[in-house]
Amino acid sequence: MEDEKKDNLALQCLLDIVEKIYGYDFHEYANASLRRRVTGFMLDHKFDTYLQLADRLLYDEGLFEVFLRQMSITVTEMFRDPEFYKSFRENIIPKLKTYPYIKVWHAGCATGEEVFSMAILLHEEGFLDRATIYATDFNQVALECAKTGIYDASNVKQYIENYNKAGGTSGLSEYYTSSYNAVKLRDFLKRRITFANHNLAVDRSFGEMNVILCRNVLIYFNKNLQNQVLKLFRDSLCHKGYLCLGSKETLRFTEVENDFEVVDEKYRIYQRKS
Ligand SMILES: C[S@@+](CC[C@H](N)C(=O)[O-])C[C@H]1O[C@@H](n2cnc3c(N)ncnc32)[C@H](O)[C@@H]1O
Repeated sequence: MEDEKKDNLALQCLLDIVEKIYGYDFHEYANASLRRRVTGFMLDHKFDTYLQLADRLLYDEGLFEVFLRQMSITVTEMFRDPEFYKSFRENIIPKLKTYPYIKVWHAGCATGEEVFSMAILLHEEGFLDRATIYATDFNQVALECAKTGIYDASNVKQYIENYNKAGGTSGLSEYYTSSYNAVKLRDFLKRRITFANHNLAVDRSFGEMNVILCRNVLIYFNKNLQNQVLKLFRDSLCHKGYLCLGSKETLRFTEVENDFEVVDEKYRIYQRKS
């Protein structure tokens, strides 16, 4: 057998152990970035081979927690891709306002900046109190950070710029208090948000949503898993519900392409057909 095939086999053994023991399935993650992250972890923790790491992970739950964090890229920001929020405000909000009540799901919310951005937008449009927002991720450490709503002050200049470009109608500083080198988002923004651990690769849907945002998550999955997760979203949306993806993700050429209308291809906003 060629070395490359043996190498692949060893990686599959490692992923089998992670799945069987800890319930996290990484088999269908995009191969190149998966390998990059696993080998980065092996370098940091001085493992020479996939099988050495697999052997340690068999018994060492603490090491698994650290491994899991490395497997999850939590880069995010408030009003990331501000033009997306502008488009959402202009194209989707007027439609949503006709509903008495809406449910929004942020899947893969990382440390929560995206979720608070949406809460601010809904507040400015006068219907945060008519919304229930579910914010989920499989990284519990990121979720705990999201629950605090506390962020590094060094990012705030960028967030203010994003907020203004996103069509914010007030000033971002209305929504946080500053202390030392951190800012804390105001508690009223959290009132309608439920944070929960949810693994898109193995867990089930959250029920009838009006809006699902899953931005900059599908890029880490291979085609199979992307299709599986997109079907989960399709089945979790109510008729005419909206799906929002990240700037490098699209429904084009996926198995659910025909189940959605394009609302704004540039900013990756789609609507489920009825
Ligand atoms: C790059 S962040 C994106 C954060 C935010 N949505 C944004 O666009 O700024 C990707 C997030 O996806 C989460 N993620 C990766 N695989 C996941 C899975 N199988 N289930 C749930 N979350 C996952 C990671 O933990 C990480 O927090």
